[in-house]
Amino acid sequence: MTDENKHYQKAASGQPLALEKRMATGDGRRYSPSIGRNRDVVRDAFLAHMPRRGQVLEIASGTGEHGAHITEAAPDLTWVYSDIDPVSQASQQAWREAVGHDRLRGPLTIDTTTEVWPDHTEVAQSVALFCANMIHIAPFEAGQGLIAGAGRVLASGGRLMLYGPFARAGEIAPSNARFSEDLKRRDPSWGVRDLDLEILPLATAAGLRLAELVEMPANNLSVILEKE
Ligand SMILES: C[S@@+](CC[C@H](N)C(=O)[O-])C[C@H]1O[C@@H](n2cnc3c(N)ncnc32)[C@H](O)[C@@H]1O
Repeated sequence: MTDENKHYQKAASGQPLALEKRMATGDGRRYSPSIGRNRDVVRDAFLAHMPRRGQVLEIASGTGEHGAHITEAAPDLTWVYSDIDPVSQASQQAWREAVGHDRLRGPLTIDTTTEVWPDHTEVAQSVALFCANMIHIAPFEAGQGLIAGAGRVLASGGRLMLYGPFARAGEIAPSNARFSEDLKRRDPSWGVRDLDLEILPLATAAGLRLAELVEMPANNLSVILEKE
């Protein structure tokens, strides 16, 4: 495997959009060390609280590993990748070609900060949205746009799953506080978001309610929002 972060698209700060040193194999699939640690627990939270059939639109798919891993365990699920980063999209395409089924689709280009998402049928046909580890490694507008977009795309009862670190009503775990400071040093517009003070008010405004909250290892949360 080779380490090749230098190719990633850069944020406004000049930092690569991919935070970690992802590893690449000869067939183009990339691997993220953190997904190596969390992919089973994220899959299990997804299977417990999200639809197991129909089509899921993933926002900010990164390497593409979550979609490959979750669809392997859910044979009636179709998964559409999206990202803004061409190098990540190439990895998603490689995962699509490597898995032994045809239920991985995309990658689409969806920038959540844009008010109008591309008019793809894949977007309109999605019964659920999934987004891991994006809203703290992007400007606040990216999370704002994600939640507003979920409010537009989802039908009543449709769910959005967020996975990552959060603060809770002004309280933050020491490890997440250190991580947030590190993120802000890289780019002042990045940082761990407060679920209660920042994210849930956006959800309410978009017609989404908090349906499930799952405590995950290493002070992460899976947050399941549902369209009213
Ligand atoms: C830290 S990576 C997370 C990737 C993957 N979801 C995971 O869990 O490893 C953040 C991802 O967010 C994407 N991203 C950043 N800003 C975005 C935006 N405004 N809209 C959509 N994707 C964005 C980046 O290209 C990158 O793939």
